[in-house]
Amino acid sequence: MKNILCIGAGYVGGPTMAVIAKNCPEYRVTVVDINAEKIAAWNSDNLPIYEPGLDDVVHCVRDRNLFFSTEVDRHIGESDIIFVSVNTPTKTFGQGAGKAADLQYWEKTARQILRNANSSKIVVEKSTLPVRTAHAMERILNSNDRGLHFDVISNPEFLAEGSAIRDLEEPDRVLVGGRETTSGQQAIQAIVDIYAHWVPQERIITTNLWSSELSKLVANAFLAQRISSINAIANLCEQTGANVEEVAHAIGTDSRIGSRFLRAGVGFGGSCFKKDILNLVYLCEYYGLPEVAAYWEQVVTMNEYQQANFVSKMISAMFNTVAGKRIALFGLAFKAHTSDTRESPGLAVCRRLLAEHADVVLSDPRALNNARLDLGSISDKVHYETDPYRAAEGAHAIAILTEWPQFAELDYQAIFNAMEKPAFIFDGRNILNHQALYEIGFNVFPVGRPSFTNFPG
Ligand code: NAD
Ligand code: UGA
Repeated sequence: MKNILCIGAGYVGGPTMAVIAKNCPEYRVTVVDINAEKIAAWNSDNLPIYEPGLDDVVHCVRDRNLFFSTEVDRHIGESDIIFVSVNTPTKTFGQGAGKAADLQYWEKTARQILRNANSSKIVVEKSTLPVRTAHAMERILNSNDRGLHFDVISNPEFLAEGSAIRDLEEPDRVLVGGRETTSGQQAIQAIVDIYAHWVPQERIITTNLWSSELSKLVANAFLAQRISSINAIANLCEQTGANVEEVAHAIGTDSRIGSRFLRAGVGFGGSCFKKDILNLVYLCEYYGLPEVAAYWEQVVTMNEYQQANFVSKMISAMFNTVAGKRIALFGLAFKAHTSDTRESPGLAVCRRLLAEHADVVLSDPRALNNARLDLGSISDKVHYETDPYRAAEGAHAIAILTEWPQFAELDYQAIFNAMEKPAFIFDGRNILNHQALYEIGFNVFPVGRPSFTNFPG
């Protein structure tokens, strides 16, 4: 039986290894983390992350061939293949602060592997890393004088939160990059063999190391670019009477453009798009390509504008002041079907409204705990209400900031009756029936579509 180890039991490590364990019963898969609380949660009935279908997969394989542990050093010694899926946030200090990836967790892991290894191993970059990180890793790992050889493989993860299990079970592709040497090619094959248990061969792409590392950053940059592009056009739609959904449909039916990732809204959130684009921008600057860097940085600039402009439109619609007004924010998760609030548009809007002295109440079916943690020192300046009806009671306005389907199914007549008048709805995700809301009496402000106001004249 081969031993697979994954260092980092987060949004990627946990679900990815659960799916590998399920599909590869002859491998023993262990996931380790320095965070003991997280490991305890992975070993309990209350998993540390919410992901549709995850509970079932974990229950089916945990303690069969999937194990969660805090004993990092011991498991390094026992493993044949080590996936590293530790966090790689944006650097907040020193050279490259605000853009470059902070590689300290990743490098610490490499040194820990080196200290505890007693046999040669394959080390797999699962985390998203700057192109050419593998070069540094190879140098650190192969600096040993014990005759151990380490092959470094890049196997970036493309799962999206909220659909992680489906994305892992039926990936569009799996990417495996490695050296063109004999041992590099053998290492690639060892990783391909794992995925070949359930992924069709034609969906497993093998490349050189640098193409694989770079492709991950580029995939996220292209996806985010589409969102910023359609959001940019949404602003023009609002000025001209065009409807951004009609425009998205009209252009998306061109098979060269495609229809996905063209939903206009309050901007993209999540832990990766912004961080990975800024990482790409930093790399372009580092390699002396300022024009290329500026091109990609604009995707992030546009996203920040979209969030700021959403709040400006709220303030302007509400007679240029929101101070002291109760405003209910529906949706703190950065997207539907997750409890993750990292870089969430909901929290960005919340912070801006607090700066305007609004009385903010937050409602979300899954993400209130994380929202409270992320708000940190200002967490006691807002109210938390799981029930959206109670959140909207006495509110001047509601803003929809996550596309949770349940927000579209609420009884808006009852909500309207309990609100201050005039009552406003700002639909930052375009998921509501705007005409019906207008008929109830709301003043309705979607994104990139005509607004409806009940004021005469
Ligand atoms: P996460 O913060 O949820 O998990 C990372 C885990 O690594 C944490 O639990 C942390 O305690 C642990 N860790 C850090 N240093 C460690 C060490 N030395 N030893 C053991 N454990 C350690 O992060 P995530 O969202 O899972 O992302 C991990 C990587 O995968 C990032 O590079 C990210 O860009 C990439 N990625 C994330 C997603 C996603 O949807 N979240 C998708 C694709 C790729
Ligand atoms: C994204 C990518 O889709 C994954 O392939 C990648 O693996 C992952 O980043 C990563 O590297 O972390 P994720 O951030 O989990 O996945 O979720 P997405 O579905 O991409 O949504 C990101 C944000 O864009 C959300 O806030 C979502 O609401 C927003 N979005 C998405 C739009 O505003 N419009 C769209 O049309 C699509």
